Amino acid sequence: MAVQFILSVLSGALSVFLVSFVWNFFSGRQVIPTRHRPAASEEDEHIQILVLGDIGRSPRMQYHAISAAKHGRKVDIVAYKETARHPDLIGNPNVTMYALTPQPEWIAWGTLPFFLQIPAKVLHQFWTLFSTLMYATPAAQWIIIQNPPSIPTFHVALLVSLIRGSKLLVDWHNYGHTILAQNPWMKPLVPLYKWYELWLGRYLGNANLAVTDAMARQLRGRQFKLRNTVHTLHDRPAELFQPITSPEERRAFLSRLAETKADAQNIVDGAVRLIVSSTSWTPDEDFGMLLDALVAYANPVPDTTAESPSPILAIITGKGPQQKMYIEKIQQLQEARQLPGIRILTAWLSNRDYASLLACADLGISLHKSSSGVDLPMKVVDMFGAGLPVAAYSAFESIGELVREGENGCGFETTEQLTELLRRLLGLDGQELGALKRGAIQEGSLRWSHEWDRVVWNIISPQQEAAR
Ligand SMILES: *[C@@H]1O[C@H](CO)[C@@H](O)[C@H](O)[C@H]1NC(C)=O
Repeated sequence: MAVQFILSVLSGALSVFLVSFVWNFFSGRQVIPTRHRPAASEEDEHIQILVLGDIGRSPRMQYHAISAAKHGRKVDIVAYKETARHPDLIGNPNVTMYALTPQPEWIAWGTLPFFLQIPAKVLHQFWTLFSTLMYATPAAQWIIIQNPPSIPTFHVALLVSLIRGSKLLVDWHNYGHTILAQNPWMKPLVPLYKWYELWLGRYLGNANLAVTDAMARQLRGRQFKLRNTVHTLHDRPAELFQPITSPEERRAFLSRLAETKADAQNIVDGAVRLIVSSTSWTPDEDFGMLLDALVAYANPVPDTTAESPSPILAIITGKGPQQKMYIEKIQQLQEARQLPGIRILTAWLSNRDYASLLACADLGISLHKSSSGVDLPMKVVDMFGAGLPVAAYSAFESIGELVREGENGCGFETTEQLTELLRRLLGLDGQELGALKRGAIQEGSLRWSHEWDRVVWNIISPQQEAAR
């Protein structure tokens, strides 16, 4: 399958080239893509933001766009347009959206045989990416690329940078090959993906960003050996996420939201604990772990000294493949009276309501399991922005760069540890939780634009280049 895959990608790349040149020639359009020339005024320089995914669900890339626009650059976003974009991007005079063509129906599952589906998907992506980056967009001074996915972004971006003279800033959120390795069906492709990602990745970026120090060390290290510099740009909460400290404001929001209305007063009084988790409902975030912990929490081993557990309202936000299965499981548990005192609701909220919910909750739960061991869950960053302490799955290297044990949250590696944590933190006195909340507010006070100006603006602003 790997050989088939390589051949189809190579021949596809070649034919896309030929077809696009011939097509443009006969339709009287430009055949040779324009090249980047330094603009007379810096404000006319274009910065391109490239994501081979839905821009609405790529918060970090949206923040790059907002920050570059704030500095007066012309920002061109190249991405798929599925869910709503960040409000600051809509109607922003400095930002233009170049939407990639969505995948046609005939490539979807079932229509094509399996062995043709992946090549067809890659070729289609290659085509829409190539024509948008080469012809539709103005030549950019810098292109900021998200990795993963690496294929086919890396080689298309490399071609574009050579032909159009744009510089590349690769933002390493994670590794494509470690994510691919989580899918058992894709195992045979992992070595090829890894080779592509490591080899092209090494030469691609004129500069690189990593989401953690641990990842930056790996990228500079023996395996990746990136040729150019690697800078850590930690994720920071967006302005939307702010703590709510006044009890009146908290009550007002909780009384308004459908999911919390009935319990608003009890939550404010501390008689019911509100916990929030957001999940993409995929196997790499084992929601079953939280569910098992809640069952164990609600059914303590009879012991005369222990206080009975506080009632919990758990709100799980997000959409994803395993959601239905778990909703059924939750129902079964409730019918079997395995969850006394616990209500679990699933929700899909607007950004604004989600931000307020985090600010009004008692504890956030992160089940993120890192495929690379060196990335971090952005949702925990947002929780801190909203001043919400977290209990986070912590069996991976980089988690300590964000969740500091006993300061702004606590880590767990097993269901038993999570159960124990819930008992300790949600108990009636709430002192430890209060201390963690202060830590979370402190951690969340460091904001994105400050980090961005310090790290990224120093890389892409021309004065800095002149000074080098
Ligand atoms: C757009 O750019 C101008 C400078 O050209 C800047 O003053 C303004 O704040 C920017 N607007 C946004 C919404 O970023």
